Amino acid sequence: MCGIFGYIGHQQALPILVEGLRRLEYRGYDSTGVAVDDGQSIQTHKTVGKVADLKAILPPSVQGTLGIAHTRWATHGGVTQVNTHPHASEAGTVHLVHNGIIENYQQLRKGLLKRGIECVSETDSEVLAHMIALEIESGSTPLESVQKTLRRLRGTWGLCILFKEHDLLVCARNGSPLIIGQGEGETFVSSDPHPLTTHTQRVVYLEDGDVALIKRDSFSITSIRGHAVEPSITVLEEAWGEAELGDAPHYMYKEIYEQPDALRQCIAGRVDREMGTGRLGGMGLDHATLVQAPHVRLLGCGTAAYAAEIGQTLIERMGRIPAVAHISSEFRNNDTVINPKAIYLAVSQSGETADTISAIKEIQLKGGQVFGVVNVVGSTIARLCGQGVYIHSGPEQSVASTKAFTNMVAALTIFATQLGRTRHLSKDDGRELIHHLQQAPHLMETYFEDTGPIGEAVDLLCDAQSVLFLGRGLSATVAKEGALKLMELAYIPCLAYPAGEMKHGPIALLEEGSPVVVVAPNDHLKEKTMSALHEVKARGAKVILIHEKGDSIAAEGDVSIAVPSIHPWLTPLLTVLPLQLMAYETALRLGRDVDRPRNLAKSVTVE
Ligand code: F6R
Repeated sequence: MCGIFGYIGHQQALPILVEGLRRLEYRGYDSTGVAVDDGQSIQTHKTVGKVADLKAILPPSVQGTLGIAHTRWATHGGVTQVNTHPHASEAGTVHLVHNGIIENYQQLRKGLLKRGIECVSETDSEVLAHMIALEIESGSTPLESVQKTLRRLRGTWGLCILFKEHDLLVCARNGSPLIIGQGEGETFVSSDPHPLTTHTQRVVYLEDGDVALIKRDSFSITSIRGHAVEPSITVLEEAWGEAELGDAPHYMYKEIYEQPDALRQCIAGRVDREMGTGRLGGMGLDHATLVQAPHVRLLGCGTAAYAAEIGQTLIERMGRIPAVAHISSEFRNNDTVINPKAIYLAVSQSGETADTISAIKEIQLKGGQVFGVVNVVGSTIARLCGQGVYIHSGPEQSVASTKAFTNMVAALTIFATQLGRTRHLSKDDGRELIHHLQQAPHLMETYFEDTGPIGEAVDLLCDAQSVLFLGRGLSATVAKEGALKLMELAYIPCLAYPAGEMKHGPIALLEEGSPVVVVAPNDHLKEKTMSALHEVKARGAKVILIHEKGDSIAAEGDVSIAVPSIHPWLTPLLTVLPLQLMAYETALRLGRDVDRPRNLAKSVTVE
């Protein structure tokens, strides 16, 4: 979603800001802008569209070593130039960019109106520029003006503020991430670690309630009430700087094909083949907690929720204790009962998903312990949970999640094995599973050597009015993930159902030629899935069948795509691959923007 980049240093700010915006693009946005201070005045340029569109309207030379920049994903007010950030106060003394939502902005706007100040945009953010400017006019310093203004707000903010005639930036965070990067004689601000890694590895993640005063070669942090806060320096991992496209046509393509290596990273050092168990040291789970936990609850949104659902099934199968996967936004609003002895797992690629963060806070408030299953190191969820497992997918830049999904599934599989081995999972069964898990990266590579007739599947999909996805057990969840991918990338309405449920409703949709994707690996539910396939075919539908290599059911699909055989509990790691490729190729065929589908954001930081 919205992205912030700020710079104060010894270099020309504009190219650094524009490059920062470019590296934030993957988060999803609809308009973008920049403000640069040349020491005399502050120049602002904004446009609806992409960073490339902004570049096209920038004057040839904009001098200045201090500036702020933003990518906006509209929440309050349409996608217009006037609503695009940075926003300025009436006299131009304050310019700011804001991520998050100011809940009481209507009331604040009325207050400004009474003082004769009219907002020009429809945004909630603009009020802040006017309020801060009023404090400056009444004699407060930039830092004090921001602190005083923030004390009157309700909502969430990541803020980066530029003041005319002041050689500094002020930043603040509450519920929307903001990171300060310290270089040599220059300081950077970003809502995301990616754009920082090309400049510095030394960063400070602001905490909720922090306000930072940023100068060229130093910064200091206080609370909203003005108390000093001790910054805690984090050194970013090198890997986060390496997410360049290289020769790949799109990030999604690159990330799909990175899955074997990403999976190796996730598994490495975390399994004990001899004992047939997992070893997730970062979770800090003692034996007693594992043995005594009454149940496990998992949280996530979108693809992460589907990975959590697969985790639920594996935890129940291996651990023989109840497990439930919840959609974070539902969980947090349903006043769910929290048992402090249970294990809670928050699953998220970005580690910044607002709904999941709110659910974690709700659990923690009620005494529950939450463990993160997260990709982005140092992200809000990782820090909020304090313990958990990094899935180590490396940077995922395409909006559609691919390699994070398979690594979430792998991390949860390892957790389920560890839990299972403290209970009823036998050493032999544990060993067999670990052996197959270690084979999975190689089997992914084997599939990628021959991906099957994806093109023929795309022929069926790209003209479809809607597509039905079916599977049973673990494959019912894989079907949901496949439907989500195709829907979000190709904009084709997709419905996913457990195959046994099809006859209770969705079968009414089928007519001659309707494409139906059936996920039927060789597990104990395959025969039942095949019954649904026959019912589908009897209505004239065209079946795209995902099956295991060498299985005679291949003859049953109108288009049949084979994946290598694997342990029945690990099939999602392979059956999801053709579904990812089908979504990618269909989107391309339809001329969609595969890496940045319309209306979507990579990091969903508003509830
Ligand atoms: C789908 C997709 C989204 C995310 C969801 C959660 O391809 O990417 O559904 O999975 O927004 O995001 P994270 O995992 O960052 O919490």
